[in-house]
Amino acid sequence: MKYTNLVLAALLGFTALSAKADVASAEKMEKLYTTIAKSVTPTYAGPNAEAGKEFYNRKITQFKGNTKDNKEVACASCHTANPADKGKHIVTGKSIKPLSPVVNDKRFSDLDKVEDKFTKHCNEIIGADCKPEEKADFIAYLLTESTPSAKK
Ligand code: HEC
Repeated sequence: MKYTNLVLAALLGFTALSAKADVASAEKMEKLYTTIAKSVTPTYAGPNAEAGKEFYNRKITQFKGNTKDNKEVACASCHTANPADKGKHIVTGKSIKPLSPVVNDKRFSDLDKVEDKFTKHCNEIIGADCKPEEKADFIAYLLTESTPSAKK
């Protein structure tokens, strides 16, 4: 974990987080990223679930050197249009447990893992790490998604 994040995590009492994960830990992470975002961008108004939803669904062209192989990928490509649903990896086809912490209490419980995944996926999809405000908005959006789609 980055040093600044560790300091902030400590300030916000993250170390006291119990092993039992739930929505509360996702909310704590949302606050943590908000605090970091505001320190970097004082004009940031705070978590915006709508912006997070847009970010989640935003399609970004992955250039493969050959126009016909270019692919449009979004977070939703693997995590599906509804984060309360199970996802499916677009490359390996493997099932991915729902990303919404409301339906999957293992999500957003381990800050190291979350930072790791954000860094990895944001770099893969966007080509750079996501900004703290994007992370706060993203979690805010996931927290609004609590209803898995009806089974087809
Ligand atoms: C190519 C497929 C794929 C795409 C695209 C993708 N992810 Fe993921 N994501 C995964 C997999 C696989 C996991 C890990 C599954 C697990 O731990 O069960 C994961 C897990 C995560 C986690 C971990 C949450 C937790 O606490 O467990 C975060 C955060 C995340 N993804 C964010 C994103 C964001 C943001 C984007 C878009 C910029 C994105 N992902 C796009 C496949 C993908």
